[in-house]
Amino acid sequence: MTSDRANAYLHARVRVELPMAPYDVVVGRGLAGAFGDFLRSLEERTEKVFIVTQASLQDRAAAFVSSSGIANAHTLLIDEGEGAKSLAAVRRLYDELADGEAHRHDAVVAFGGGVVTDVAGFVASTFNRGMVLVNVPSTLLGQVDAAIGGKTGINLERGKNLVGTIYQPAAVFCDVALLETVPPEEISSGLAEVVKYGFIADPSLLDTVESHADALIGRDLDLLADVVVRCATIKARVVAEDERDSGIRALLNYGHTFAHAIERVQGYGDVRHGEAVSLGMMAAAFLASEMGLIDTSVVQRHRSVLATAGLPVAAPLDVDELEVAWRHDKKYRGGVRFVLLEKTDAGVAPVAGIEASREKIKTAIERLAG
Ligand SMILES: NC(=O)c1ccc[n+]([C@@H]2O[C@H](COP(=O)([O-])OP(=O)(O)OC[C@H]3O[C@@H](n4cnc5c(N)ncnc54)[C@H](O)[C@@H]3O)[C@@H](O)[C@H]2O)c1
Repeated sequence: MTSDRANAYLHARVRVELPMAPYDVVVGRGLAGAFGDFLRSLEERTEKVFIVTQASLQDRAAAFVSSSGIANAHTLLIDEGEGAKSLAAVRRLYDELADGEAHRHDAVVAFGGGVVTDVAGFVASTFNRGMVLVNVPSTLLGQVDAAIGGKTGINLERGKNLVGTIYQPAAVFCDVALLETVPPEEISSGLAEVVKYGFIADPSLLDTVESHADALIGRDLDLLADVVVRCATIKARVVAEDERDSGIRALLNYGHTFAHAIERVQGYGDVRHGEAVSLGMMAAAFLASEMGLIDTSVVQRHRSVLATAGLPVAAPLDVDELEVAWRHDKKYRGGVRFVLLEKTDAGVAPVAGIEASREKIKTAIERLAG
């Protein structure tokens, strides 16, 4: 523990300023000590800590908990992949928490990527009508997006994230040292959400991805920490303004209306979330250009930055299949609405709630085929 502490480096604390329960997203390297201090500092002392993780991460999770000095930790495992975001997994976790005599002030710690934080968050929000939740995201996608903002979710066969809650964690620890073992294609997947923030909020992120893609994918931890802080800052700001997703938070869904349908059509698990988001942003760019909202140069920027990040930019898709998926989308209201970019004097800005004709969507999908 002492040597871990000596090597620990706190990059930044990003505050999510929610009126009822503000919390910190702590970004740095070697954060186990800070994580342990946080749990020990809780007013209502937690007696037990339930770590929800996956078999492949079990050793990392055990080392993290042991460095934190936390005793009385129990490990609960879920499967790998989108398939683990299921009612069956949730039910198993409920039983294991009950067997472990988990009480309201005990903590659920989600240690893993977005799959783990989505499932563990849902369980923590519902078991005992809500337990203390702490997120320790271990993928880039988790650190820049999934672990922040309180959205939890599981899939039904009929659609993605159809069951879920909005339940904020008490804290998020983004330890970039955990990213050292993340495979390059999973880093690329996380970069899709970074690019999303670039297009909707902070174009300098696009420059960073374009100029430093190799270093980011090669897991340059300082560079990754810097990117995580910049993305977490954007997400924290948006969530603080619209926690319940009734306004500005919709902008974070740029590319996701297409992406969720693509994931459903291609089969959960056959395409990574970030890869689907990459294709979704390309489709959104084609659609915006078809509708005269942006110039083709912006479509080209999407293609170049996403391809540089190692992400797919073309795929053959069937508009009829996407439409079936959209009818099950939770945001469907008599039709599908998109977040699209629109030209402004300063560049482009995102606009939510845009309806598009079937013809224009079909053309956008045809252009996506390459
Ligand atoms: N709740 C939200 O706001 C939100 C936002 C974005 C995405 N999501 C969800 O997140 C999910 C995708 O998350 P993801 O991309 O992190 O995928 P993931 O959780 O499936 O993780 C990807 C793979 O990386 C492995 N892994 C995790 N940490 C590792 C580490 N440190 N070293 C080596 N391997 C590691 C995992 O075991 C898994 O096999 C999707 O289900 C998506 O819907 C949720």
